[in-house]
Amino acid sequence: MPLLAIVYFSISGTTEKLAHAVARGAAGKMEIAVCRISGDDIVSGRFENESLLGTVDRADAVAFGSPTYMGGPAAQFKAFADASSDRWSEQRWANKFAAGFTTGACAGGDQLHTLTYFSVLAAQHGMLWCGIDIPGGEDKGGRNRLGSQLGLATHLVDGALPQSDLCTAEYLGQRLTMLAGRNG
Ligand SMILES: Cc1cc2nc3c(=O)[nH]c(=O)nc-3n(C[C@H](O)[C@H](O)[C@H](O)COP(=O)(O)O)c2cc1C
Repeated sequence: MPLLAIVYFSISGTTEKLAHAVARGAAGKMEIAVCRISGDDIVSGRFENESLLGTVDRADAVAFGSPTYMGGPAAQFKAFADASSDRWSEQRWANKFAAGFTTGACAGGDQLHTLTYFSVLAAQHGMLWCGIDIPGGEDKGGRNRLGSQLGLATHLVDGALPQSDLCTAEYLGQRLTMLAGRNG
């Protein structure tokens, strides 16, 4: 079975809910590694969890997740990305599928910049970017509520993640599964 690695950072649990929803979407058809970046992975400012990086080495598809912090990915996610530079020089992650998800407090809280960063990270690694093929505002189930097709952008409504955002995350997991299956 192909392996999906879901690599994310979350403090208050919203991005974590999205990570688990992506995993549900791929369940049964992919082996899934849910990899939460923790503060303890970062020592003197550097990400040092070699086991997590090794999981990505083995994966066929990778979903990157982070809350949007000050208009971009959280520093903890960026520390992980910076630690992948050895893999970059060897293009060890080339041809894996990659997708991204983020959340914010505001509907227009610059989540696009976080997704753009994820897609550039994927391009640096020679990965194949997987966006969302659901036109915003057109889906009967309300998926892709914020109309972001580069990746999954969400925000809290009355302090909670709308069900439609979780459904979109599940769909992203399904889509990565479909693409990884085609590649295999
Ligand atoms: C330091 C910091 C910066 C933030 N910057 C943004 C931002 O630029 N845009 C936004 O919409 N929300 C911003 N937020 C809100 C978080 O994205 C939001 O609370 C998110 O749900 C946190 O994710 P988590 O529950 O996975 O930790 C910020 C929160 C913090 C703590």
